[in-house]
Amino acid sequence: MTRSSQMHMVHMFFHSPITHTALSWANEDDGHLAGMASFAYWQDIARTLERGRFDAAFFADTPAASDQYRGSSDTPLKHGVVWPTHDPFPLAAVMTAATQHLGIGVTLSVTGNPPYLAHRRLSTLDYLSGGRIGWNIVTGHMQAEHKAIGQGLVPHDERYDMADEFMEICYALWDAYGEGALPMDKVSGVMAVPDRVKRLVHHGKYFQCEAVPATLPSPQGRPVIFQAGSSGRGMEFAVKHAEAIFAIQPHLAAMKRFREKFDKVAVEAGRDPIGILFGLQYVLGSTEAEANQRLSDLKERIPLDAGLSRLSAPLGVDCSTLDPDQPLEDVPTQASRGMAEALSQMAGDGRKITVRDAAIQMGLSVGLPQVVGSPEQVADQIETYWRESGGLGFNLSAPTKPGMITEFVDHVVPILQKRGIVRTDYEGTTLRDNITA
Ligand SMILES: Cc1cc2nc3c(=O)[nH]c(=O)nc-3n(C[C@H](O)[C@H](O)[C@H](O)COP(=O)(O)O)c2cc1C
Repeated sequence: MTRSSQMHMVHMFFHSPITHTALSWANEDDGHLAGMASFAYWQDIARTLERGRFDAAFFADTPAASDQYRGSSDTPLKHGVVWPTHDPFPLAAVMTAATQHLGIGVTLSVTGNPPYLAHRRLSTLDYLSGGRIGWNIVTGHMQAEHKAIGQGLVPHDERYDMADEFMEICYALWDAYGEGALPMDKVSGVMAVPDRVKRLVHHGKYFQCEAVPATLPSPQGRPVIFQAGSSGRGMEFAVKHAEAIFAIQPHLAAMKRFREKFDKVAVEAGRDPIGILFGLQYVLGSTEAEANQRLSDLKERIPLDAGLSRLSAPLGVDCSTLDPDQPLEDVPTQASRGMAEALSQMAGDGRKITVRDAAIQMGLSVGLPQVVGSPEQVADQIETYWRESGGLGFNLSAPTKPGMITEFVDHVVPILQKRGIVRTDYEGTTLRDNITA
């Protein structure tokens, strides 16, 4: 899937009180904390996104509270920073049940999930939804997740080797049905022709599986494969398997660089460039002043601790040990210079970014660039990002929910549609039909 003539949109969530903005759940405009406990709430969101002709809702998932900051999970618990972290799979079922076209991307890790059972869960959802499921394959980079499931953290590149083997099993199960394998004939009473259903016998380095598939194929045959790795090994994995890429790059120049690099890796691997969906957070108001007011209200609420805990992961240091007022670029990690540069560009004023500034920005958007303003201004900024990045589109994030999502669909999408860059109707019935259009 390469560049399309129209912009594709996915909306990002966790099944958790926040997506990216720390303490957004405590904002008076936010109904998400109460809502997320009910199927009806998620179904309303699904219908709203479908009205806005989104390709999909995407659920990120980190199934354990982070314990990297201060060596404990106290900060995520205290402030509700991606904790609680409920399973998104049931939401994919109810959200597709309430819609006809909207796809749902779910995240499932290759650690802690045997491939046969993962294939069965994903394929059951894809079958039930008429082929509207996408799978964000992750390798599980969080220590806390591994402690929770009682497995040691496998080294970074080896996790991708495991993921390759995991995919081999899934492909074999998806491809098991030969021509005429499923007569499902009431007269003869034959459901399947056994010798046309290939039994998988896999004894690999990481996984064992002997089985025929447990599920019937969906109209799209298999879920759409999403991936978000950005390391060398991550990109190698992505160009082997992914149909679209999720990426977070802090500003336009970084998006362009990332896209050019990924295109090169894909072409070197003998395939067409893969469509990239860049993360973008929108802060809308009916006027520019209202949007800026909303942004500063959100910013003011962010506890420094919550921001520092968000900053610890990308810097690879426990930020509780740092002086919040020291320049970020003086922090002795490889990551800090690049991040200081990126955050300075986000601030846009060439100022030296302190650890405190970086923490608050991470607490706000976790490195997603922000588009802030009236509907017209937000539409202008999104169009510029889309045209200049060369991406497939955006993985959008709203700081408060569900109201701001409705505002986006009612006030920004019609502008983008009028400009001819967002679809006015779906092209097909499966997620693959739509996201590849
Ligand atoms: C938009 C986006 C969404 C992601 N969602 C998840 C997720 O839900 N769960 C998870 O464990 N990792 C998630 N990741 C992390 C990636 O899967 C990957 O581990 C990370 O980008 C580092 O990849 P690398 O080690 O190849 O650089 C996400 C990354 C991005 C950019």
